[in-house]
Amino acid sequence: MKRRTAVLISGRGSNLKALIDAARDPRFPAEIALVISNEPEAPGLKLAQEAGIAAQVIAHRPFRGDRAAHEAAIDHALTAAEIELVCLAGYMRLLTPFLVGRWAGRMLNIHPSLLPAFPGLHTHARALAAGAKVHGCTVHLVTEEMDSGPILVQAAVPVLPDDDEATLAARVLAQEHVIYPLALRLLAGGEAGKPASPASRLVNPLPIGAEAP
Ligand code: GRF
Repeated sequence: MKRRTAVLISGRGSNLKALIDAARDPRFPAEIALVISNEPEAPGLKLAQEAGIAAQVIAHRPFRGDRAAHEAAIDHALTAAEIELVCLAGYMRLLTPFLVGRWAGRMLNIHPSLLPAFPGLHTHARALAAGAKVHGCTVHLVTEEMDSGPILVQAAVPVLPDDDEATLAARVLAQEHVIYPLALRLLAGGEAGKPASPASRLVNPLPIGAEAP
């Protein structure tokens, strides 16, 4: 049985698309059963509709700063759809301990840096400004502290001399689309935290637990 998974978005939805595509494989242990956006105009909503996936807008603005009530509405929608796992994919709201606690160990986030370097926003500009030679992306379990939960998968990319924010972001994004499906596969298949299987022993992305090549 595939694990019923929801994806929370706020915008473009390219990671959502990568997850939808991966989950089409009958052997993939999760199905994308619900997409929720807090932004009514998020382009990712169209991707969900095109894929025939239930999509809901739960806008935060009508809640006028009542974060608890907004999160309660999201939690209600997740529960009503019998969701087991949640993927944050460009979801641009900070979560309160309520929602984090409800989904502890069952909620993933993708972040565009090699955590613990560069938590927060503008990661590519900050990596360039710091003179980093290596940058990348991370999928981690969500905990109360932002961008700091246990790491499932990371991918590294080089920072090239001519890079600007856009070229570096594009190189990282291509790897995000590889590691997010891999991380969801590990979590949904019950393999997260176990040593990497031979099939996932990749040089880049390199799942934690993998042997050095
Ligand atoms: C990605 O770079 C992700 O790492 C970050 O927000 C961006 C979302 O992009 N959290 P998309 O909406 O998945 O295309």
